[in-house]
Amino acid sequence: MGRILLLLCVFIIACRSPKSDEVIEQVVGPIAQNGMVSCAHPLAAEVGRDILQMGGNAFDAAVAVHFALAVVYPGAGNIGGGGFAVLRTAEGQVSSIDFRETAPRLSSRDMFLDSSGNPLPMKSRLGHLSVGVPGSVDGMLQIHDSLGSLALEQLLQPAITLATKGFSLYKWDVEMLKEFSTDFAEVNIGPTPFTGKNWVPGDTLYLPELAETIKRISSDRRDGFYAGTTADLISAEMKKGNGLLDYIDLKGYRSIWRPVIKGDYRGYAVYCMGPPSSGGIALIQLLEGAELKNISSLGHNTVKTLHYITELERRVYADRASHLGDPDYYMVPQEQLLDPGYLKIRYSSINPDEATRSANIKEGYVEMIESTETTHFTVVDKNRNAVSVTTTLNGYFGSKVYVDGAGFLLNNQMDDFSIKPGVPNQFGLVGDSANAIEPGKRMLSSMTPTIVEKEGEFFLAIGTPGGSTIITSVFQGLMNIIDHEMTLQEAVDAPKMHHQWQPEYVLYDSGQFNALLVDSLRKMGHDMKPRGHLGYLSGVLSIENGNLEGAADSRGYSTAKGY
Ligand code: DON
Repeated sequence: MGRILLLLCVFIIACRSPKSDEVIEQVVGPIAQNGMVSCAHPLAAEVGRDILQMGGNAFDAAVAVHFALAVVYPGAGNIGGGGFAVLRTAEGQVSSIDFRETAPRLSSRDMFLDSSGNPLPMKSRLGHLSVGVPGSVDGMLQIHDSLGSLALEQLLQPAITLATKGFSLYKWDVEMLKEFSTDFAEVNIGPTPFTGKNWVPGDTLYLPELAETIKRISSDRRDGFYAGTTADLISAEMKKGNGLLDYIDLKGYRSIWRPVIKGDYRGYAVYCMGPPSSGGIALIQLLEGAELKNISSLGHNTVKTLHYITELERRVYADRASHLGDPDYYMVPQEQLLDPGYLKIRYSSINPDEATRSANIKEGYVEMIESTETTHFTVVDKNRNAVSVTTTLNGYFGSKVYVDGAGFLLNNQMDDFSIKPGVPNQFGLVGDSANAIEPGKRMLSSMTPTIVEKEGEFFLAIGTPGGSTIITSVFQGLMNIIDHEMTLQEAVDAPKMHHQWQPEYVLYDSGQFNALLVDSLRKMGHDMKPRGHLGYLSGVLSIENGNLEGAADSRGYSTAKGY
């Protein structure tokens, strides 16, 4: 059904190649002039588009979409999780907000190790102990208070209506609910709206308790979630399952406006998220490497291009593992990591013909001055205010803990900390003391919401879910558009690869890279491993005649709607 939906809104157009007179066919996403919303669920996209149409700006629509996704996309949309947003006003001011979860105040570095020091990875992934203090509600309220123009009640009403009146489940929703039903039963003592039914596609899911929680947020703002009834319900739920998060953690939670990370790629200004997301630093490191190695001249997904991309990624992820963490707890050497001189040396060990072994790559030397579910959505309005938001519960349905009486699921974001040096998290990412657990600290993220300007004007807003593959998918998406002049739809749909230093292998979109290409990379020493699909990019691109193209990966239910 997702595909059918998609076919209705993706078009094939014929146009002239900018490089020759040849007529080429291009696949483009929906096009509109006044505003565009691209997100993981058609109902949430409609909510956003309606807000834009009634005169709300992109920031208003983003808040409305976030709450709508918390209802219709419970696997990743959330009020019990956190995320990051990069925002650009029509006047060209770019800011970023971190509404990442924090470790509860009773957490401790070794809380996921047994008495002999062995890791207990399931404890950081499933159930009450895996939950970090949620940031989404505070983040959305901050965005609304700073940049919104409509009343909060107006923005939250569509989510309340969807939760009350119910919405129809897709085949994929049903498959996910079935896949995780045992986990749900393991961590929840009582019934939840997601369990106890033999769901079939087309069934209606009602979330009345969630509707009541959103009503409390609508009337009491922060206190509708971080105090009063909702906070009481979260604390009570945590007590039932021996979780750590409590009323005091909730009361103390604050999202933080952070300095945006800015880089330049071939004349385009790229704005992205700084720590505690690793996404911005890693993306700018990769783009700098792509420019240094002149990857744009090597062609799209050729053997040479893929070799260089892998080698850049190997070095960038080794840096990530050692040097990145919450900047409020760890001195992140940001300037040095982004310094062109540092990167030139760092990438000088790349052999053009042969893969390096990851075991031979360590993090770069920087002088210390001291001592798999997420969702991305993008909104652009008629004035070209733009918002790029990536938000998550971490795993699909997060910790699987349903807050009894409050209607929503809590994240399992504690797994994004390094539970022990060198022990991989669910995405195979390793880390060390920079990302060790400390009370109040934010766990390192890969989320990479990004906004790009061309000649000082809005050009592109993009992002994706995908855990550790987020950064590399955004990187390839940007190159597809800037270097290979693809439409946004083509750029998000193009096959992608991913490497993250450890483990050694290179993941690639199975079925989409031809056998000869994969074989050539193997011969260069790359350990190639097929994977279902990589990334799930979505975004909005400024195109000719003042239009916007919206696009979302055509493999799912994501969709773009404009007017
Ligand atoms: O913050 C992070 O990097 C992860 N918690 C993101 C998880 C994710 O993207 C899972 N989705 N596919």
